Amino acid sequence: MKRLTVLLSLGLGLGLMAAPSAFAQGRCDAAARQRGTQLFEARCAICHSADHKAGHQFGPNLAGVLGRPVGKVKGFEFSKPMGDAGGAWDAASLQAFLEAPSVVYPGTAMAFGGMAAADERAAVACFLSGRK
Ligand code: HEC
Repeated sequence: MKRLTVLLSLGLGLGLMAAPSAFAQGRCDAAARQRGTQLFEARCAICHSADHKAGHQFGPNLAGVLGRPVGKVKGFEFSKPMGDAGGAWDAASLQAFLEAPSVVYPGTAMAFGGMAAADERAAVACFLSGRK
């Protein structure tokens, strides 16, 4: 019995580990992108544009953000914590940031409480991956 419980919890643990986000699993399809577009409009567009022809707003322009160095885009003045951060945005770091912006970059000027739902973060990352 004990052995069965161990096996069951091991299986459950592996199952949880294997289910991070739709986007991390490569499922960034038309439906996810559509959902991400709606979420971006509702939660991000008040401060950000994701259109490469538009400028910066209250937040930096996010067209092409995946693969871009953190806190470095020209013409936008970042806070010190983000400007000094280093590294580049990928789908994983973007989703971690969106979950808790001020935990990932304490002192960030992005006044956004975070997105609790992993599938929403994945959908937004999916949408942004299509904005070049
Ligand atoms: C209240 C305004 C506001 C909202 C809402 C907001 N942001 Fe931001 N965002 C900012 C500001 C300001 C910065 C610059 C932060 C800094 O300098 O510390 C920023 C920075 C970023 C960066 C870093 C860009 C770079 O070039 O390094 C990303 C990525 C980002 N936001 C994504 C999002 C997404 C996705 C959403 C919606 C889920 C969102 N933000 C919601 C204001 C906002």
